[in-house]
Amino acid sequence: MRAPLVDPFGREISYLRISVTDRCDFRCVYCMSEDMTFLPKRDLLTLEEVDRVATAFVARGTRKLRITGGEPLVRRDIMNLFRSLSRHLTSGALDELTLTTNGSQLERYASELAACGVRRINVSLDTLDPDKFRKITRWGDLAKVQRGIEAAQRAGLRVKINAVALKGVNEDEIEGLMAWAHGLGMDLTLIEVMPLGEIEPGRIDQFLPLSIVRARLMDKYTLDDDPYRTGGPARYVRVRETGGLLGFITPMTHNFCESCNRVRLTCTGTLYMCLGQEDAADLRSAVRASSDDALLYRAMDEAISRKPKGHDFVIDRRRSRPAVGRHMSVTGG
Ligand code: GTP
Ligand code: 5AD
Ligand code: SF4
Repeated sequence: MRAPLVDPFGREISYLRISVTDRCDFRCVYCMSEDMTFLPKRDLLTLEEVDRVATAFVARGTRKLRITGGEPLVRRDIMNLFRSLSRHLTSGALDELTLTTNGSQLERYASELAACGVRRINVSLDTLDPDKFRKITRWGDLAKVQRGIEAAQRAGLRVKINAVALKGVNEDEIEGLMAWAHGLGMDLTLIEVMPLGEIEPGRIDQFLPLSIVRARLMDKYTLDDDPYRTGGPARYVRVRETGGLLGFITPMTHNFCESCNRVRLTCTGTLYMCLGQEDAADLRSAVRASSDDALLYRAMDEAISRKPKGHDFVIDRRRSRPAVGRHMSVTGG
């Protein structure tokens, strides 16, 4: 194998998140503004180019690929990418090929994903109330997402539910979400909302530290620390009463940057070395300048040498602008 990618803080990069589109069929209020402008399609890497960059990362030690968006399943011909990347699972070079999705297209794609070697998927779902779901996503259909989740389970995919915990929005539903997810054999991960991208005011006021959620749950449930790890940022407990796993992603209150193993590729071939920083490297030029990967490897090395120690997110009500200007949908979380 070629030399692994190691950053200046000794962290080995083994997890690449690939956003294949900035578009989404929902507009979650904490993620996007209502009148988003999307990138012109001509700026996008082709799926073949995405494959080439992903393959270069695999050659340099990436063991986990997560396809994100926007909503990855709205990108045209997206299954061609999954089909092609699955060769790295077959060869043993990759441990996991997976995706994070809003679930709206799963009825259509679940069995094809399973056939491509996907074993586990994360579905974003913040409420089980259809009206609230429509408000949060601005027009999403909860029943359709639930049918998508059923289809995924029928296809043999392990499903994890991601819920962003929002004060005054879904904080009263956390127990309900957990009972529902665990009842269906799914893990649930709670996420603290992060200040990315300009959106309508309100997100800062909706910030809910997960320590509060955890303390509330502990009044009723026994939470045993669990060693389960995915290579992602969540830390898990096993809920004794339900038997299910509950994950906590706490970028705002317990930053996990020290063990960061990931970087993010956008659909235009920009590599972000940290979700919470603006610095980025252009890999598209290297891909298009030569069919020989030497230039691409050099650009990757140069990028990783600039990976910062951690993010700069802060909750500051006096700040009028978010810590990071780009929206979450650019990097897919
Ligand atoms: P698993 O493989 O199941 O652990 O998934 P994951 O947590 O790696 O990915 P997912 O797409 O489900 O992300 C869940 C949340 O974690 C999203 O809100 C991401 O933005 C957030 N997240 C993932 N990696 C990082 C990171 O490096 N820094 C920060 N601040 N947040 C992250
Ligand atoms: N803060 C935290 N999580 C967010 N997501 C989208 N925007 C934000 C934000 N500002 C979540 C989605 C999805 C995951 C990829 O990121 O709900 O689960
Ligand atoms: Fe779309 Fe996901 Fe953003 Fe919601 S959080 S608008 S589903 S990209």
